[in-house]
Amino acid sequence: MNIQKNISLKEYNTFGINVNAKRFVSITSVYELQQLVKEEKDIFLISGGSNMLLTKDIESLVVHIDIKGISINQENLNDVHITVNAGENWHEFVLWCVSLNYGGLENLSLIPGNVGTCPIQNIGAYGVEVKDTITKVEAVEIETGKLISFTAEECKFGYRSSIFKNNAKGKYILTSVSFQLTKNSHKLNISYGTIESELSSKGITTPTIKDISDAVITIRKSKLPDPKEIGNSGSFFKNPVISKKKFEILQKKYPNIPSYVISDTEIKVPAGWLIEQSGFKGKRFGDYGVHEKQALVLVNYGNAKGKEIYKLAQKIQQTIKDIFNINLEIEVNIIQ
Ligand code: EPU
Repeated sequence: MNIQKNISLKEYNTFGINVNAKRFVSITSVYELQQLVKEEKDIFLISGGSNMLLTKDIESLVVHIDIKGISINQENLNDVHITVNAGENWHEFVLWCVSLNYGGLENLSLIPGNVGTCPIQNIGAYGVEVKDTITKVEAVEIETGKLISFTAEECKFGYRSSIFKNNAKGKYILTSVSFQLTKNSHKLNISYGTIESELSSKGITTPTIKDISDAVITIRKSKLPDPKEIGNSGSFFKNPVISKKKFEILQKKYPNIPSYVISDTEIKVPAGWLIEQSGFKGKRFGDYGVHEKQALVLVNYGNAKGKEIYKLAQKIQQTIKDIFNINLEIEVNIIQ
């Protein structure tokens, strides 16, 4: 185990925030991780670094989870069960599944980050959430060093949420995720408007998994900034869920307000729309700002400080509260 001193974390977080890690270690096996947690309890985890905003130097030992490997556990004519280690890159794994015609993850193409963090916030896009394919999550318990297995049910998945963001927060280090994917009779999901129009613009009427993945990649590239070019963490806020009553009042004032029905009494409203209406879309302040094509995404154009971006986020929250009386919840982990 090679503990390095004074390492910049700029390359390890998709926001590209330049903070210092006093001590840093890359971990490549579960065994190594189990040994480490026996000696070190004050640790700060970084995997793909795609859902965090770093606002200060890190004093704790930074543990970079770099455990690689994909294995097929079981397969029959219809399904395949795959276990993927936490350090595998999410999008590369999705592309591998698409190339083998394993269905279920194609709508989640091009999401930044690593496999080990996908269950934590239950990543979702274009009508699909990762929880629909997860069968098991394995994690090392920091307190004991034991490897613990969680069924999908035990993960308590919800919209951009799981037990690892709530009761189990800070207690486990995820080491692998198991998926059940289809080999036949794929449950294709093209209901999300933009996918349908992207496919029909190409004249595709009976799409394959690859067609859907390609469509999602095209849509994402047209709306969302590539973290390799402009630092960002995807959606900075969650889409707020409001009461139907409150929605109807808003709709009178803003007849074009987009919405998704959640239940008889609740409506989800896109945060991106609210932020755009408040005039923040495309606004740049020095080296940071709000993305010009998707207002839900805050960006770092180069050398922004995490604190500056967090302040902007708070200003946006306050403005949305003042204009719409809606509380916007931050989706990204603010490290302060
Ligand atoms: N909209 C605007 N202005 C904007 C952005 C969006 O008016 O600047 C409107 C759009 O016109 C559309 C609606 O808001 O009517 C929804 O927009 P979009 O389809 O882009 O999706 P979203 O609700 O803004 C969510 C996820 C994204 C995911 C997309 C597609 C959340 C917080 N975000 O965004 O997830 O890619 O749907 O499924 O749920 C992420 O989590 O990092 C992420 C990018």
